Amino acid sequence: MMDWTDNYYRTLARLMTRCSWLYTEMVVAETIVHQADNLGRFLDYPASQHPIALQIGGSNLVNLAKAAQLASTYGYDEINLNCGCPSDKVAGHGCFGASLMLKPELVGQAMAVIADNCDVPVTVKCRIGVDNYDSYEELCTFIETVSSMSPTEVFVIHARKAILKGLSPAENRTVPPLKYEYVYALIRDFPHLKFVLNGGITSILEAKYAVDRGAYGVMIGRAAYNCPWTTLGSADSILYGEPGPGLTRRQILEKYALYADSTIGKYGPHRPNIRTLVKPLVHLFHAEPGASRWRRAVDETLQVRKTVQGVLEGTLQVLPDYVLDAPPPIPESPGDSLVCRLSDLPKTPSFLERSSSSVSLSGSQLLQEIGCR
Ligand SMILES: Cc1cc2nc3c(=O)[nH]c(=O)nc-3n(C[C@H](O)[C@H](O)[C@H](O)COP(=O)(O)O)c2cc1C
Repeated sequence: MMDWTDNYYRTLARLMTRCSWLYTEMVVAETIVHQADNLGRFLDYPASQHPIALQIGGSNLVNLAKAAQLASTYGYDEINLNCGCPSDKVAGHGCFGASLMLKPELVGQAMAVIADNCDVPVTVKCRIGVDNYDSYEELCTFIETVSSMSPTEVFVIHARKAILKGLSPAENRTVPPLKYEYVYALIRDFPHLKFVLNGGITSILEAKYAVDRGAYGVMIGRAAYNCPWTTLGSADSILYGEPGPGLTRRQILEKYALYADSTIGKYGPHRPNIRTLVKPLVHLFHAEPGASRWRRAVDETLQVRKTVQGVLEGTLQVLPDYVLDAPPPIPESPGDSLVCRLSDLPKTPSFLERSSSSVSLSGSQLLQEIGCR
């Protein structure tokens, strides 16, 4: 997420979950190409962040190819192409982000050239549609075209459409309704592909619900940023069956400060600056006693302290010890926000019914599973 999932947030997230995949902010292919002498600033990350995917944006095939090649030396575990961003700033400049969904062949070519220039899996992040190009059949055409023209096997689907004119980026993440049934129908209709469900997931148990029903994974955006402790603290045990780092927030902050302070000035005077380094921390105590008092104290202390260590030393005393020293939380029941009935699923488009026996046994079982709820 632009301005959010920077190196610092990702380092913080890694102190709460070892197994979850982390995604970078989108880096525009042209930035990578034109900043070839200064790439570290955009592409460097600590080794602890693996597994990590680089998200790139753009549609110029030459630049996408060069960007994938240049990024290869940084050892990302996946390269993802942004076909979901509705921002006017980029949507207005040729084909970019969500508007690429209107050109499935171009995305197929883009994914093929990216794959040719790197040696890791390539994936697409997209919406379920754009403007009036929003039927389930059109979504299937997009998926079929891209996956048949390139080695793309994983699609991350933000389960709402994008509206390119008239809505702000933030409204585009809330106003168009979520249609999880489109994602479950894709899982049914493309059993040879993998679908990661995204949009509106607010807890790790909701994520598990989707994974148990056939999603290859779940991407969590805003909740992982705004409530990192409750969202990420139990991800390893609940989703991966692995022990997580098991750190308290006091321990997390100690480790984070060591990393953050070692980067001050790395990319020039005040780059990164202390505010950038402290920004990912402000939601760590979301909804806890003392959280707003701590945020105010941090704000004041930022005027005088020059290191994250210093900011923490000057402020942590306003938080109760039992909050600072609590173990990672056990998640609460997710409610029924993801329940999707068999009758909710759109029909398989006729071109898919004709072309394959696309509904596999596991697909039918999945349908029954969903229908039972
Ligand atoms: C501040 C912000 C920046 C975002 N930047 C990106 C981005 O660079 N690339 C991308 O694919 N999605 C981006 N998104 C969208 C999220 O990845 C995600 O698809 C969306 O927020 C819905 O998921 P959520 O409900 O879990 O947040 C951004 C979202 C926010 C809030």
